[in-house]
Amino acid sequence: MKGAKLRLIILGPPGSGKGTQASILARKYGLLYLATGDIFREEIKRKTDLGKQVEAYMARGELVPDELVMEVIRKKLESGSDGSKIGFILDGFPRTERQAEELDKLLNEINLKLSAVLLIDVPDEEVVKRLSGRRICEKCGAVYHVEYNPPKIEGICDICGGKLVQREDDKPEVVRRRLQVYHEQTDPVISFYEKSNLLYRVDGLGEVEEVHRKIEALLKIICDD
Ligand code: AP5
Repeated sequence: MKGAKLRLIILGPPGSGKGTQASILARKYGLLYLATGDIFREEIKRKTDLGKQVEAYMARGELVPDELVMEVIRKKLESGSDGSKIGFILDGFPRTERQAEELDKLLNEINLKLSAVLLIDVPDEEVVKRLSGRRICEKCGAVYHVEYNPPKIEGICDICGGKLVQREDDKPEVVRRRLQVYHEQTDPVISFYEKSNLLYRVDGLGEVEEVHRKIEALLKIICDD
């Protein structure tokens, strides 16, 4: 399988493991990895204008307005290290029907086609468990879970030795809102890609490696088509 040919979207509820699986795929196939949530968190950390505009939405578990999201994606996909030369994986985008339509237009303009949209299916109860135990390295962004994927030393990143912290929006009341927003605004994106025959469902339950193997099996079918 050649990474250069893979142009993927990874969809799923908050905490379904999109970031975990997308990072593995990006490393393995040399894909450009664009995670809108990570991009916004970095802007907030750097206190940029964009960071200031998106901060309050994220803290409440609401979606950032479509216009701001599209501006970021357009710049990234059109820039020098763009997806036209290498494959890419989009994580956390598109999240509304309008974003999906805008992405279609943008890909048409730059002559690119999506390979597939992977939907990681995980029930809401599991999402709550995963997010309440998630810890992030404040230095390099590596993701852990206190129970399912613990670091070797509690509170310390295995990779860079940075401190592990909880994300602001992983607090229980914000997680509930994020789930509600997902069902209201992102469920229609699933139907959107179902209609264009690009959607592949992956059972997101099971260990990280197991879910990865399920994705690999699907990618093999997709690429052989
Ligand atoms: P974003 O950062 O995209 O958050 P999200 O979609 O809510 O997803 P998460 O990052 O919380 O979870 P994930 O699915 O990546 O799971 P992970 O791999 O970390 O968005 C945040 C906010 O930004 C939004 O609320 C919105 O405000 C804004 N935003 C972003 N994009 C936007 C857009 N396009 N439009 C508008 N607004 C936007 O895993 C979770 C935990 O589970 C970890 O601890 C992990 O170790 C563990 N885990 C992973 N896999 C497994 C497994 N198989 N078994 C057990 N544990 C597992």
